Amino acid sequence: MTERTLILVKPDGVERGLTGEILRRVEAKGYRIAALQQFSATTEQLAQHYAEHEGKPFYQPLVDFMLSGPVVAAVLEGERVIEGFRSLAGTTEPTTAAPGTIRGDLGRDWGEKVQKNLVHGSDSVESAEREIGIWFG
Ligand code: TYD
Ligand code: MG
Repeated sequence: MTERTLILVKPDGVERGLTGEILRRVEAKGYRIAALQQFSATTEQLAQHYAEHEGKPFYQPLVDFMLSGPVVAAVLEGERVIEGFRSLAGTTEPTTAAPGTIRGDLGRDWGEKVQKNLVHGSDSVESAEREIGIWFG
């Protein structure tokens, strides 16, 4: 079944010039980029995007990090793309994410409170549709 997912190249990925490399991996895997735009995120957008994490110790450092520079948002399309992109991205902590993944190959710990892990990917059909609405209206 064809799905859509919302991905973000986070400020660390944009700052390090890795947007092209990340999108190259997405396209090489065979997913279609249905929408693509760079944004300066607003506090309001991030409060919606990360609502599930409100109140957790990493929430404010996460929001501050996401406000620290531009992000690139994309909508990807393909069969099982939600699961597929999260597999490409790797696990949350970049230091231990598997080699071969975006986070495992390109990310690491920088000694900060927040995991600067390069990318976001929606985790379910419901969150994908909600997040596409937040970023692309
Ligand atoms: P989460 O949705 O759990 O991870 P993922 O991005 O893999 O779906 O958390 C959202 C972001 O919050 C995560 O990408 C990085 C940050 N975060 C931390 O900085 N520390 C943590 O302990 C967790 C769980 C997340
Ligand atoms: Mg998540």
